[in-house]
Amino acid sequence: MDAVALLIADHNRVRGLIARYGEAHESENLDEAAKLVAKIVDELDVHMTIEEEVFYPAIHELKDEISESVDEGVEEHHVAKVLIKELGSLQPTDEFWAAKVTVLIESVQHHVAEEEEELFPRFRRASNATWLKVLAGKLEAKKKALGAPVLADKIDMPKSELEALARAQKIPGRSSMDQEQLAATVSPK
Ligand SMILES: [Fe+2]
Ligand SMILES: [Fe+2]
Repeated sequence: MDAVALLIADHNRVRGLIARYGEAHESENLDEAAKLVAKIVDELDVHMTIEEEVFYPAIHELKDEISESVDEGVEEHHVAKVLIKELGSLQPTDEFWAAKVTVLIESVQHHVAEEEEELFPRFRRASNATWLKVLAGKLEAKKKALGAPVLADKIDMPKSELEALARAQKIPGRSSMDQEQLAATVSPK
């Protein structure tokens, strides 16, 4: 699996959490909503770190025009971090908690869509298969160092188990994913 596919897997894992948060929020299940927001924040922390420390610098090495999109990406990460920090000082019962979660979700959705529609395809075109594989190894190593689950931890799980996790975790596009994509995308628990 190449670097871009791994990052998209992270995005889809977060999209699943966002969908589940939406349901918990709708049904006013505050405990569940708070747990899901904590998971979203943990996922974003790891994902933003591996992008900023491994992926974005790799893009900077490639081409100047793509670098501009990276600078915008870094600023969008910054906005997410500010919102996450502010959320940390609020309780889920506070008046502005849900509003702030909504703004965080909307800004993350905008950012990941931009990465998937613009940055990633341009990076793929400017890169090559070998480099994308090397970069995948670096992303996974960084993720492991941060204590987060990596593809290798999940790749040997039976497909039926991965499918069940993907269903429970509301992973978008799960029905058309192969074993490797499922393993990269699901959270192991
Ligand atoms: Fe990003
Ligand atoms: Fe991303």
